[in-house]
Amino acid sequence: MNDWRVPGFTSTGSKRPDALFGTPARMTRASGCRVWDESGREYVDFVMALGAVALGYGHPAVNRAAETAIAAGVVGPLPPVAEEELAEALARQIPWLERVRFLKTGAEAVAAAVRLARVATRRDEVLGCGYHGWLDWCQGATEGVPAAVRRLFAELPFNDVAKGREMIRERASRLAAVVVEPVVVTEPSREWLHMLRAETQRSGAILIFDEIKTGFRLAIGGAVARYELQTTPPDLVVLGKALANGFPLAVVGGRADLMAAASRTWISSTLATEGVALAAARATLEVFEREDVCGHLHRTGTRLLHGLHEVQRAFPHVVTGVAGIAEMCFLHYASEEVSRTIAHQAASRGLLFKRTAYNFVSLAHDEGTVDRALAQLSDALKDR
Ligand SMILES: Cc1ncc(COP(=O)(O)O)c(C=O)c1O
Repeated sequence: MNDWRVPGFTSTGSKRPDALFGTPARMTRASGCRVWDESGREYVDFVMALGAVALGYGHPAVNRAAETAIAAGVVGPLPPVAEEELAEALARQIPWLERVRFLKTGAEAVAAAVRLARVATRRDEVLGCGYHGWLDWCQGATEGVPAAVRRLFAELPFNDVAKGREMIRERASRLAAVVVEPVVVTEPSREWLHMLRAETQRSGAILIFDEIKTGFRLAIGGAVARYELQTTPPDLVVLGKALANGFPLAVVGGRADLMAAASRTWISSTLATEGVALAAARATLEVFEREDVCGHLHRTGTRLLHGLHEVQRAFPHVVTGVAGIAEMCFLHYASEEVSRTIAHQAASRGLLFKRTAYNFVSLAHDEGTVDRALAQLSDALKDR
């Protein structure tokens, strides 16, 4: 492992062999819900590129759109027509995205939202809940982040109404933004969501929903749509991952007056509007609209979640819990060692099933795929 020229793997720490399956460590190809390793062995996958793919790998309509964009030159000297077209198409589905900016990664887009909030409020402090990427502003405990930056950020506990209210009120006039993932393993309570909206308004802070995982998954419009917050939406929203079905694209968007600050501050990325990811996102949105993708993810995911509960009942000493929601779920194991063994055993049977947050179903997973995966998991548990 130490001989690799890409120490720690380029893509993300979450794809390290020790975080996943041991072997297979790398892949060569993916299609639908299937993945092939260097020896040509086929696996059924529930990692789905850490949630970046909801239609299945290499979806034909998305690939065709990407190929057309490649033939059209990919990039050029001027901003592309495609970015305005995609912004329009997104706003038809997600009207609270009054204005948007495109970036390449989720981390960049959330950082942009925080920058916009700081510009609008002329305040510095930020409360965050969940994971918001690797950049300095939210990485309190990470080596290499300056202490002065750390002091501006604190973690808001998920779903804790009293503590959340207290933390927002405590910081009131210093607070620029509250950034939350609307689902962190469990669903949010109505009270928590309402408290966030009411308390940020009261203190003059900007409410940002980080819908990088939940957008284009719980609904096209993410948790705001799922939990019917359209009339009291957050001020800014960030989308990424499944948005372009695996092509690199993220969006920061929301209230027009806040987004206007994008031209007063500096948010810029040379390749942010290359045409391939924009075309892929447009095609992805069309498939979501045409095929009720979110309905499929919910139905198939519910079958998986119920099956995982049965697995837990069958192996209560090894599987200590089922976590997550239909669209994104995983098992809790009795120990780290057991979890590694089961992930590895399942992989050796041809199933890539993550041992921590989250596993994702896609449009390419059907009921049969889910049932076979559950049987493989049970076999791995039996033979452990
Ligand atoms: C909720 C959330 N926000 C932000 C990010 C960061 O996105 P990226 O890895 O594309 O920078 C992630 C990635 O997992 C995420 O799940």
